[in-house]
Amino acid sequence: MIILSIETSCDETAVSVIEAIGDFPNAKYDLLGNALFSQIDIHREYGGVFPALAKREHAATIVPMLEKALDEASLPKNDEPLYSPSLFPEQEIEIRKILEREPTLADQLLTFHKEHGTPPIDVIAVTVGPGLEPALWVGVNFAKALAYLWNIKMIPVNHMEGHVLASIFDIEEDNKLTAIPFPTIALLISGGHTELILMKNWGQYEKVGQTRDDAVGEAFDKVARLIGLPYPGGPEISRLAAEGRQLGLSPFKADLPRPMLNSNDLDFSFSGLKTSIRYAVADKILSESDKKALARDFEDVVRDVLIKKTKAAVDLYNARTIIIGGGVSANKFLIHEFKRQFLITHPDIEVYTPNPGLSTDNSVMIALAGHARLDKAANAAAAAYIKADGNRSIAEE
Ligand code: KG4
Ligand code: ZN
Repeated sequence: MIILSIETSCDETAVSVIEAIGDFPNAKYDLLGNALFSQIDIHREYGGVFPALAKREHAATIVPMLEKALDEASLPKNDEPLYSPSLFPEQEIEIRKILEREPTLADQLLTFHKEHGTPPIDVIAVTVGPGLEPALWVGVNFAKALAYLWNIKMIPVNHMEGHVLASIFDIEEDNKLTAIPFPTIALLISGGHTELILMKNWGQYEKVGQTRDDAVGEAFDKVARLIGLPYPGGPEISRLAAEGRQLGLSPFKADLPRPMLNSNDLDFSFSGLKTSIRYAVADKILSESDKKALARDFEDVVRDVLIKKTKAAVDLYNARTIIIGGGVSANKFLIHEFKRQFLITHPDIEVYTPNPGLSTDNSVMIALAGHARLDKAANAAAAAYIKADGNRSIAEE
């Protein structure tokens, strides 16, 4: 089965062509084509992702990404005529209707279709949420248009389920999902989410903890901004923190709050930490080493809180594995600390983290999650109900 997957939930426009050989969760996945355009440089000057701009950029780059992924996949050409003029007027009207809100995208897609015809794709997986709704809609409408044009089914995919599966996708070994023992605790840490998910089996998600305010990635981004670092703050803070650690700098602020560290639940809160840093840096001109020390202090707090709550969740639910996923899992220090500390207290528990290329948003993970949800595949006519949903929870899947 050849899956075309599409991801536009935030500031990455990504399209993949992946062949699934076998059934979920035992399939092998061949990555035939993969294209990703990051809008980070465009958003950087605004200090964060600007939804209307993200939407416009997705609409402008998604056809080139489709073309690149399909080119790379070099699938055999279908025998049927590529372009049937008698059919085309109605098709064109329908495509324009589906892409009503992205008229230039309709033009691009129609031109693309005239040149390339219908590739041998079996199903389209698309992120429907969570994420920025205007951005999500571009991918969803585009997927609907393709499903109609190619007469195939589409599968609505939850972005966070993609992050979970990305962390156990063994891209270096056999291109399969690791056969993990359940129950699993998944810690999902990204720009929009910080949640602890109990997974009793494949596809079964129960939210057992979450942030009450800012997400961890958001805290990284906001703290970075406070000390004058560009968006996205995660990689910047982690780079400075590593230097601060290596230099053994003394704390910039030794008593940063460790929010909810001792609360009797599995929830998080990061806005107080950010506020405390705001006060600590107010009216100060920070030297480079102040910034390094502060970045390190901040990362230490994040480490303590994330690890303590994850351990509490593991103990409460007798979890046998841990999955860490989402953009913040690109943080080498945090991951190193998780593995190190769990090895001491829970030596039988394996901690899974994504391959470097799969920690931040991508469409490979959307294909995996799409394959997990083949039962949701709907044909183009029935797909009208498929909607982008910015707040969609993984627990609803
Ligand atoms: O999963 P993701 O790519 O997009 C969302 O779904 O939100 O996560 C993006 C977030 C941003 O907040 C970014 O600052 C953070 O992941 N991030 C990091 C690192 N790389 C990206 N945070 C900490 N350390 C990193 N190395
Ligand atoms: Zn994400």
